[in-house]
Amino acid sequence: MNQVGEDSGSPGAALKRASDALSNAGHIVCFSGAGISAESGIATYRDPLTGIWAPHDPQTMETASAFRKNPQLVWGWYLWRRQQVANAQPNAAHLAIGQLATIGRKVSVITQNVDDLHERAGSADVMHLHGSLSTPKCFACHRPGTLPQHQMLLPADGALVEPPRCGRCSGKLRPNVVWYGEDLPSDVWKSAVALVKSCEVLISVGTSGIVTPAADIPWLALSSGATVIHVNTEDVSTAQPNELMLIGKATEVLPKLLALVPRAEQPQ
Ligand code: APR
Repeated sequence: MNQVGEDSGSPGAALKRASDALSNAGHIVCFSGAGISAESGIATYRDPLTGIWAPHDPQTMETASAFRKNPQLVWGWYLWRRQQVANAQPNAAHLAIGQLATIGRKVSVITQNVDDLHERAGSADVMHLHGSLSTPKCFACHRPGTLPQHQMLLPADGALVEPPRCGRCSGKLRPNVVWYGEDLPSDVWKSAVALVKSCEVLISVGTSGIVTPAADIPWLALSSGATVIHVNTEDVSTAQPNELMLIGKATEVLPKLLALVPRAEQPQ
C-alpha cells in the first residue's frame, strides 16, 4: 500500500507507480462514486445534508417502503437532487476521465452515481450500476415513464409535490434508481463484472466502498490480477500488494495522474 507523499522511496512514488501501471495497460476501468461529483457541488451520500433536507438521512429515503410511506417526501428529495445535477458542471476529475479515452487505450467507465456528469465530460457508454436520475419508472408496473416539464425541478418555495402518474396503469412514478433492498439491473451488473475482470488497471474514485455489490468491484479487479488505484480524500485501501492509494481531491489527483500517461502507439 502506498500513498501520495508517503515516504516510500521518493515523494510521489505512488503517483509514479500508478502512472507506470496506466502506461502499460491496454484496458483501463474507471469506477466512480459520489466523491467524484462532490467538487461539482453534489452532496455525497454520507455527508450531512443542508437546507430543507438537513433533518433527513439520505439512506432512509432510498427504499421502497419510504416511498410507500411518504411518496411526496421521497419524490421531492429526488427533484432536489435532479435540480442539483442540472445546476452542476462536470469538474476536472470527470474531464480527465473523459480525456483518457483519447490516448489510445480502451477505457470503460462504471459509476455508482445517478448523475450524468461523466457523459457531459465526454465519456461514452457509461454504465450506471445504481440507475439514473434522468428517467422515472412506474412504482407499480415498472414501465419507463415520462417526466412532465413542471416536475423537472423542485418548486422555488420548496413545497413538496405529488409524484406524477404512469400513463399506462396510473401508478405513481418513482425515480429509476436502485434503492436499498433492490437488485442492480442484472445486464448492467454482468457487463460491468466482465469489464472489471478483463482490465489491467482499475481506478476507483470517490467511493466509501461500503455498499455492496458495487463495493466488490475493486476486490474483483484485484483478484483478477489487475492493479487498483484508489483516489479518495481518505485512505480506503485494503493493504493488498497491487493496491495504490492516492490521497487527495479527485479534481487535483486525477488530472495530475492522467497527464503522466503517454499516448499509446497506434498500429500502422
Ligand atoms: N475527492 C475524492 N474523494 C472524495 C471527495 C473528493 N473531493 N469528497 C469525498 N470523497 C470520498 C469520501 O471520502 C468517501 O469515501 O467519496 C466517498 C463518498 O462516499 P459515499 O458518500 O458513501 O458515496 P458512494 O461510495 O458513492 O456511495 C455508494 O451508497 O447510498 C448509496 O446508492 C448510493 O451509489 C451510492 C452508494
